[in-house]
Amino acid sequence: MFTNFPFFPEQASAQAAQVDGIYFFMLAVTAFFSLLIAGLVVLFAIKYRRRHDEEVGVAIHGSLVLELLWTIIPFLITMVMFAWGAKVFFDIYRPPAGAMEVYVVGKQWMWKAQHMDGVREINELHVPVGRPVKLIMASEDVLHSFYIPSFRVKADVVPGRYNHLWFTATKPGRYHLFCAEYCGTKHSGMIGWVYAMEPNEFQAWLGGGDTTQTPAAAGAKLFEDFACSSCHRGDALARAPELKGLFGKSVELQGGGTAVADESYIRESIVQPQAKIVNGFPPIMPTFQGLVSEEQLLQLIAYVRSLGDAAPTPGRTTQAPGKD
Ligand code: CUA
Repeated sequence: MFTNFPFFPEQASAQAAQVDGIYFFMLAVTAFFSLLIAGLVVLFAIKYRRRHDEEVGVAIHGSLVLELLWTIIPFLITMVMFAWGAKVFFDIYRPPAGAMEVYVVGKQWMWKAQHMDGVREINELHVPVGRPVKLIMASEDVLHSFYIPSFRVKADVVPGRYNHLWFTATKPGRYHLFCAEYCGTKHSGMIGWVYAMEPNEFQAWLGGGDTTQTPAAAGAKLFEDFACSSCHRGDALARAPELKGLFGKSVELQGGGTAVADESYIRESIVQPQAKIVNGFPPIMPTFQGLVSEEQLLQLIAYVRSLGDAAPTPGRTTQAPGKD
């Protein structure tokens, strides 16, 4: 609808029209009232100007009708903005189940992406059109922000936690990718391209990429290398919780309370094992802060995930090779 309007990048995602819709509504309301008020100021200044020196203004004692009108009308308009905005907000921030997942790590000054079947890319992101894509994003160092103007999506990438962003590309093409948070000297160079491709082309691209290891397989290797498996094991010698089938489940914590074993929980358990101790286990795990990179953390999480989701996500094609 607005693609020919020079100030706006093209609408290339399912979200774009939604975001532009509310944006233009607010712009129209703002323009209407600005012009109305400015016009009335000028009009009244002329109409009620002092015509001769003896003229004295008439005292005004208020008008209930006017008071009610200029309270109720703006109230209703802002409620429309609120309800509409809330709907768009929830749509934009809730990735649908079954979205294709991609890991993204921001670092000074580049974007690294890894697809679930192992294909990696830097400052580029290839996605199929017509399918929801969910990015699971982490930062290796400072605050960054992942921004694709044509998709109308942007999310901060925050050190120490995972942020999600999702979109469904609708038009094949090449779109700008920016870092939208000042992050140091080469912030302006932390840019790239998003390639939206027809699904069959995307599959061909994915097949032609150099797949080293799936994130889950890489995580399985790290799990052995860091000797995690000497405590996290299924038999009688286990000194730490069993990880099979853990992902997505609720975990009972020492001192009461529960936590859901999602990405952020597992990340915290690796870098700050003492933060949440699972009921019935001694707090003996050492911290891996500084020993594992954000990419390795994502790989370890992918591995734990591959050990069995509580609620399997449809559409995920990759599972780690069995490592029991
Ligand atoms: Cu990363 Cu600005």
